[in-house]
Amino acid sequence: MLTLSTVAELRAELRRLREDARVLGGGRVAFVPTMGFLHEGHLALVEEARRRADVVAMSIFVNPLQFAPTEDLARYPRDPHGDAAKAAARGVDLLFTPGVAEMYPREARVRVVPGDLATRWEGEVRPGHFAGVLTVVAKLLNLVQPDVAVFGQKDVQQATLVRAMVRDLDMPVELVVAPTVREPDGLALSSRNVYLERDDRRRARVIPRALARIEAMFAAGERRADALLAAGRAVLATEPDVVPDYLALADGETLEPVDVATEGTIAMLAARVGRTRLLDNAILGAS
Ligand code: PAJ
Repeated sequence: MLTLSTVAELRAELRRLREDARVLGGGRVAFVPTMGFLHEGHLALVEEARRRADVVAMSIFVNPLQFAPTEDLARYPRDPHGDAAKAAARGVDLLFTPGVAEMYPREARVRVVPGDLATRWEGEVRPGHFAGVLTVVAKLLNLVQPDVAVFGQKDVQQATLVRAMVRDLDMPVELVVAPTVREPDGLALSSRNVYLERDDRRRARVIPRALARIEAMFAAGERRADALLAAGRAVLATEPDVVPDYLALADGETLEPVDVATEGTIAMLAARVGRTRLLDNAILGAS
C-alpha cells in the first residue's frame, strides 16, 4: 500500500497507475472516503470497492468544514498508524492522508450548495454540515477521479445528498451504497462509539431495538407512519437517558417524511446518549 499526503503525489501516482493500467488492460479505480479511526464498517466499504475495481483508493481526512465550532472536531478520534495497518491488511492500494493545509491551502470561498434536503434531519441539527461534506467529497472526487465511489447506508442522508450532487453536477462516477455493519447486539459501528462509557454503551442498544420494532411491525403489515413511529418511540422511552433528536419515516429517494410506509421507506433515528450523538436507520422491507 502506498500512503500519500500531498495532492501533487496523489495526482502523479494515479496518473502512473492509469498509464500502467492502459498497458495491462482494465484499471478501474474505486474510492472510499473516510475520516479514519477505521472500523469494520469502513473496511466493508473497502471490500465492496475491491469487488468493483482493480485499484482501491481510500482517503482519511477529518474535514473541518463539516464540523460546527461547537462540535467534536478537536476530539474526533484519530489513529493514523492503526488505520494504515487496517487499510493495508484489507487491500487498500493507495491511502491518501492530507493535512488540513493541503486540502484547504487558502480560505475556501466556493462551496457546494446542497439544497433543501440539507436543512432536514441531520441538517436541521447541524446547519452547514452537508455543505462541508459535499464540498470535501467534490474535492476528493476531483482529485481521485474514481470510476466508482463507495459510501455507507449508515449515513443515509449523506449518501442521498452525494447521489444528488453527482447527478445534478454530472460527475462521472458510479456511486455504491453498502449496508450498515453492526456489533453483535445491533449497535451500528461508528468511530464515535468510543466516546460511549459502559452504561451508555448498554443504553445505546435501544437504538437498533427501536428500529427493529418498526421493521417488525412493517413486516406484520402495519403501514401507518404514526403507528410505526409511536411503536418506535415507545421502545426508545424504555431508556430515558437516550434522548432522540428525531425518529422519522422518510421516502427512500427524497428523504421527505411519509404518512404511509412502503417497501424502501427509511426509518431514520438520531439520538443523544450522554454527550454522544448516534445515527442509525433501517430500510423497511429490506430484510
Ligand atoms: P466517516 O464517518 O469516517 O465514514 C466514512 C464512510 O463509512 C461513510 O460512507 C459512512 O457512511 C461509512 N460508514 C460508517 N459507519 C459505517 C457502518 N457501521 N457500516 C457501513 N458503513 C459505515 O462519512 C464520513 O466519514 C465523512 O462525512 C466523509 C464522507 C468522509 C466526508 O468527510
